[in-house]
Amino acid sequence: MAQRFDLLVAGGTAVSARGSAAADIGVADGRIAVVGALRAADAAERIDARGLHVLPGVIDSQVHFREPGGEHKEDLESGTRAAALGGVACVFEMPNTDPPTISAAALADKCARAEGRAWTDFAFFVGACAENVDDLAALERLPGCCGVKLFMGSSTGSLLVPDDALLERALQAGARRVAVHAEDEPRLVERRPIAAAAADVAAHPEWRDVETARRATERLMRFALSTGRPVHVLHVTTAEEMEMLAAKPVWASVECTPQHLTLAAPDCYERLGSFAQMNPPVRGAGHRDALWRGVASGVVDVIGSDHAPHTRAEKARPYPDSPSGMPGVQTLLPVMLDHVAAGRLTVERLVDLVAEAPARLYRVRGKGRIAPGFDADLTLVDLGKTRVIEESWLASRCGWSPFAGVEVTGWPRATIVRGRIVMREDRLFGPPGGRAARFDVA
Ligand code: DOR
Repeated sequence: MAQRFDLLVAGGTAVSARGSAAADIGVADGRIAVVGALRAADAAERIDARGLHVLPGVIDSQVHFREPGGEHKEDLESGTRAAALGGVACVFEMPNTDPPTISAAALADKCARAEGRAWTDFAFFVGACAENVDDLAALERLPGCCGVKLFMGSSTGSLLVPDDALLERALQAGARRVAVHAEDEPRLVERRPIAAAAADVAAHPEWRDVETARRATERLMRFALSTGRPVHVLHVTTAEEMEMLAAKPVWASVECTPQHLTLAAPDCYERLGSFAQMNPPVRGAGHRDALWRGVASGVVDVIGSDHAPHTRAEKARPYPDSPSGMPGVQTLLPVMLDHVAAGRLTVERLVDLVAEAPARLYRVRGKGRIAPGFDADLTLVDLGKTRVIEESWLASRCGWSPFAGVEVTGWPRATIVRGRIVMREDRLFGPPGGRAARFDVA
């Protein structure tokens, strides 16, 4: 007897890192059941995907959603709503909330808060610090945890692993991939007067200079080698680091953000002022070019948004009191698809960077591929659709984007999470049914 699907995505072009092909996708019980020629199959619901590309559900592996403690700028509902509208099906959320996610109780609290309110699937990082370094091996194994996040330099919030002794202990505790913010704290402290004296956001990349990033990444690579621990270097920004990371240990991985691949100093600071301020900073076009070479050569493994919302009023404080960070979870895909349209990378490479590699590197169970048995997480995109990123489209509670007013080619048309159509043509379909992602933890 012919199979009846819950959902049939028919007529689209399915994309993987290895290639693209016309394929219909039959979904049953939240999973992909069949990939093939199914046009005539029976289904409770159908999506006509002719003219569209069907990507494995996008995973944004670096977002800051501010709950608990900063709900005036984002919470788990608004952040995941922005994600779903932008074509993102799963998010990994960072621990620098208030209180920070540094204990089993704080992690369980975040999981409970997300239940029934998250529009996408989710997982949470546990932050490494002096107080919990001996507990990290146990904490990273808890349900809902995607791994440990470690700040080598201070940024938003209080989490910090400033010295080599603590860094080494943190990397020796546990086994999963550790996501690292690599800026050198002693140099940040020493150079802080540069920011205060300049009182101008254009000095941000001078305070947090190339050497600040390079030194931390070099220290991190040293300990990655000596401990054998898989590390993920977040938001790499410099040509010097890219060159060093070309020889990274095979178990290390690298992230770039759409902001660092798209914006450049000095223009971004002239145009956007402190709204372009983030850590590590957006630098000059030469560094941006080096990041693109890293994308082309394969040194870059993942693109994550580093969605870090702050209100307009907070951002408008005089530099250096203005907080660092830009929203980005909703614009990650449109901005990167525009780079695809411009010929800077292929859609197949993009699928690796935003779906297959995050799933593989963090060992997410059942996500990242369009294949039978995998979760039916699908992101449908129109590669040819030209549209302006309007502020009215944005769901983040911060209400702004560095990309507002920018015209892009390439747009998410539907977000499907475990077989449920969560977003179609800018509309959300509730209730929010996101669940904790599951991981293979050895
Ligand atoms: O610019 C940033 N903002 N970089 C970070 O590392 C943290 C983030 C935030 O949470 O605001």
